Amino acid sequence: MTFTDKLNPLADGLAGHGFAVIDDFLLPDEVTAILQLDEFQNGLLQFKKAGIGHQQEKQINEGVRGDYIQWIDRATAMPAIQAYLEKLNTLIGFVNQALYLSLKDYEVHLTQYPPGTFYKRHLDQFKKDDHRKLSAICYLNTNWKPEEGGQLRLYPETGALDILPEAGKLVCFRSDLLEHEVLPATRTRLSLTGWLLDQHADLRHL
Ligand code: OGA
Ligand code: MN
Repeated sequence: MTFTDKLNPLADGLAGHGFAVIDDFLLPDEVTAILQLDEFQNGLLQFKKAGIGHQQEKQINEGVRGDYIQWIDRATAMPAIQAYLEKLNTLIGFVNQALYLSLKDYEVHLTQYPPGTFYKRHLDQFKKDDHRKLSAICYLNTNWKPEEGGQLRLYPETGALDILPEAGKLVCFRSDLLEHEVLPATRTRLSLTGWLLDQHADLRHL
C-alpha cells in the first residue's frame, strides 16, 4: 500500500461523520526517530503548560486541560519531525482535492500528558479565529494497552467512541464540528497535535 492509498479513508470519513482514523500514518521507525529527539528524551524540560483560549485571552486551567506542549518551528525542526510535516503536506493536498477544501498550512506542537492529566470535552475552533479547519493528531505511544486509559473520546452524532493513542495512528477530524476529550492515563501520553489551516501559519500571530 502506498502512502496515498492510506489517505483514502479521509475522503469518506471527513465528509460523512466528520472524522477518520489512519493506522500506521507514521511507520514504527519514524515513531522511534521522533521519540529519540531531545525534546522527548528530556521529559518536560522543554515543554510549557498548555493554556486555554486564544492569544491574549490564554489561561492555564488544570481543571480543563493538563497537557504540556512545545510548538514546532519548521525552519529548525529535526529531520524526524520534517518527515512528519511532509506527510501532513501530502495529506493537505489529498483532502483539498478530495473534498474541495482550500487548506494552506498547518501548525503543530509536541504534546505530553503526564499520568492522570486529561483534556475535558471541547471543540478546537476558537470563537474569534475560525482558521483551524481540521485537527490532526498522531500518537507516539508504543505498546499502549486499553487498561492504561488515555483514550481520545469523540462525540459524533452517531454516538461517542473511544480511540486508543497507539503509536503511528493519526486521527483527523473537523475542528469546527466534532467535540472530543482526552481521558486520563496511567502512563505519559505522547503525540504530535496539529491543525490544518485555511491561511498561512506565519500570518497567525502577527
Ligand atoms: C487537543 C486535543 C486530543 C488528543 O489538543 O486539542 O483535543 O487525543 N487532543 O490528544
Ligand atoms: Mn482538541
